[in-house]
Amino acid sequence: MAREFSKVGVVGLGTMGAGIVEVFARNGIDVVAVEVDEAAVEKGRGVLEHSTGRAVTRGKLTEEDQAALHARVQFTPSLDELADCQLVVEAVPEQLDLKKELFGKLDAIVGPDAILATNTSSLSVTEIAVATGNPKRVVGMHFFNPAPVLQFVEVIRTVVTEDEVFEDVKALAIRLGKQPVIVGDKAGFIANALLFGYLNHAVSMFESRYASREDIDAAMKLGCGYPMGPLALMDLIGLDTAYEILDTMYKQGRDRLHAPSPVIKQMVSAGLKGRKSGRGFYTYA
Ligand code: CAA
Repeated sequence: MAREFSKVGVVGLGTMGAGIVEVFARNGIDVVAVEVDEAAVEKGRGVLEHSTGRAVTRGKLTEEDQAALHARVQFTPSLDELADCQLVVEAVPEQLDLKKELFGKLDAIVGPDAILATNTSSLSVTEIAVATGNPKRVVGMHFFNPAPVLQFVEVIRTVVTEDEVFEDVKALAIRLGKQPVIVGDKAGFIANALLFGYLNHAVSMFESRYASREDIDAAMKLGCGYPMGPLALMDLIGLDTAYEILDTMYKQGRDRLHAPSPVIKQMVSAGLKGRKSGRGFYTYA
């Protein structure tokens, strides 16, 4: 019988994690939202409040529904609070060791029927899965940024993921208003495998002073009808995250297309991570 998801956990409340919390809570599911410490928890709460506030302003959410959404979320710095969740989605930074260590801990906390999902964009779901004692219940559940807005989820099936596990996650994605696709465990899955070569190319065009950031973005936005230009999108994704994704894809495929343009690392080192830090290719208020 298909699993009922009435209470889920999200670990990591950065750009993606906070958005994923919003998606679940908006669809009537109780969420345990976990970060490493109280300060990070408060930051995550702020991201959620900002996003739902924007949805209210734009007429996408009533104030009543916003209050109900927030009431469904329990913020905590303790992983132990995840014990009775039927699903936990991990959205911590794109570092394999960090994710493996976390999955080892989660495996010991949640019940035997719970599903463990990673929102990784490019790391091996299989490697993360084998850090647990039960890799059959581990799956990729890859949302897109901004998660409350974009209606698409990649469900990543490893060679050992149980059929019921990915079928249940696929059904959940539909309940969340997302179109799911099932993909194999290859760096970048579908969307990022296609997207990141293009983004990297745009950055190198900017880096070589071939064209200005505004003109590069205008070419793709106005000339090609994309919702935003590639450099603005890099800022939205976060340059630190984009670097990790490109680096992983390059190491796995050795395709020059994915060798991160040097300026990305330089900007990350200088703290220019995009919207999340107030400055990237553009400056944000
Ligand atoms: N809940 C529900 N709806 C919301 C919302 C929320 N929290 N916040 C905003 N919205 C709605 C707005 O009301 C608006 O809807 P309407 O157009 O019907 O009014 C819509 O979402 C867009 O919001 P905004 O008007 O505030 O912003 P925008 O029109 O400038 O669009 C954007 C912003 C959605 C980011 C759009 O530019 C876009 O889709 N860009 C491309 C993003 C993209 O490519 N993402 C993928 C990145 S790669 C990735 O995520 C994978 C990875 O692993 C890194």
